[in-house]
Amino acid sequence: MSSEKTSTSESNTKSPKEERREDDRVIIFDTTLRDGEQCPGATMTFEEKLQVAELLDEMGVDVIEAGFPIASQGDFESVSEIAKRAKNSVICGLSRAQIPDIDRCAEAIKPAKRGRIHTFIGTSPLHRKYQMGIDQDEVLNRIEKSVSRARSHTDDVEWSCMDATRTEEDFLCRCIEMAIKCGATTVNIPDTVGYALPHEFADLIKMLIEKVPGADEIVFSTHCHDDLGLAVANSLAGVTKGARQVECTINGLGERAGNAALEEIVMAIETRSDAMPYWTGIDTTMLTRASKLVSAVTAFPVQYNKAIVGRNAFAHESGIHQDGVLKNAQTFEIMTPESVGLTQSNLVMGKHSGRHAFREKLKELGYELGDNAFEDAFVRFKALADRKKHVYDEDIEALVDQEIATAHD
Ligand code: KIV
Ligand code: ZN
Repeated sequence: MSSEKTSTSESNTKSPKEERREDDRVIIFDTTLRDGEQCPGATMTFEEKLQVAELLDEMGVDVIEAGFPIASQGDFESVSEIAKRAKNSVICGLSRAQIPDIDRCAEAIKPAKRGRIHTFIGTSPLHRKYQMGIDQDEVLNRIEKSVSRARSHTDDVEWSCMDATRTEEDFLCRCIEMAIKCGATTVNIPDTVGYALPHEFADLIKMLIEKVPGADEIVFSTHCHDDLGLAVANSLAGVTKGARQVECTINGLGERAGNAALEEIVMAIETRSDAMPYWTGIDTTMLTRASKLVSAVTAFPVQYNKAIVGRNAFAHESGIHQDGVLKNAQTFEIMTPESVGLTQSNLVMGKHSGRHAFREKLKELGYELGDNAFEDAFVRFKALADRKKHVYDEDIEALVDQEIATAHD
């Protein structure tokens, strides 16, 4: 991993689009409107959901999980309206392994140009015993009935084995084999409680693809939760072993600690194409807009130091970093701010800032000071930065205006 290989707009070694292999394409399945909305306090109105879906569709998201139609009349209506309006994305609805759920879901996605039914059942011993009170045979029986029913409505059927990472491997293989036999075209492997480690998740995907009959005819998908902060790492580990769909949400919104963050998955794939041959159809320049929209409609702030879309993701305060970035941005940035939809890096003026950044800031504010005046202003700026947590442009303007006025006295 040589530093010369770090991928920015200048040094990006990504192959041109026409050289990309279709087999390496990673399908981006966004579940902000379903799993994201399940997060306490993140409820969105009908209008807000339409707005988010429109942006996801425009951004190049392959599959939008628009909701859980049986959950409420509101969810049904929003899934149906999103299905009506989507121009490019496949519109998906979630359903439990129950016939009324699946039929309701089929009705909701009917207006879509391309619709998908996603049905799931818990497969782990904990879920079998405490959630449903059923044995392995009954799980298999329900998979058979639910997937077959879904397949009678559409030829795009996704099946998920909830809590897959805590399910006995042999039984998991049998469940997946049954789902494939009954017509599932995508098999999703959720790490429902964010328990897996990256090497374990990678091994699981590899084992399933090698062992389950029919695995080569369907798409394997990852669905990783972030309880241990490993959702993105686990998803990427799954991709390296053959998963070709990643389920994720904008800003990593989701149950408990959230889901894998879409912007992190996409930019990791984009930025490290030198190390991974994968690619997505996402217009990365829309990531910041999507993050801001989801944050605004859910009233969930994005943490300042959040990768890719946090306020500080392209901000530099230390003098060494600011000096480096001003000389060549690649010194401290592995992707360009423009690639995620920002106009430029943000040089934050504070006590760690050096002369180089201060001079650039003055230039940006329209000041040109002689050497002595500059030195005086710099000393006063440092003193101010020691007293004040944030030094705003207005503070610098006031300080320099004062400097100029004193010089004229
Ligand atoms: O986390 C999970 O297991 C889910 C399933 C419904 C796919 O969200
Ligand atoms: Zn989930």
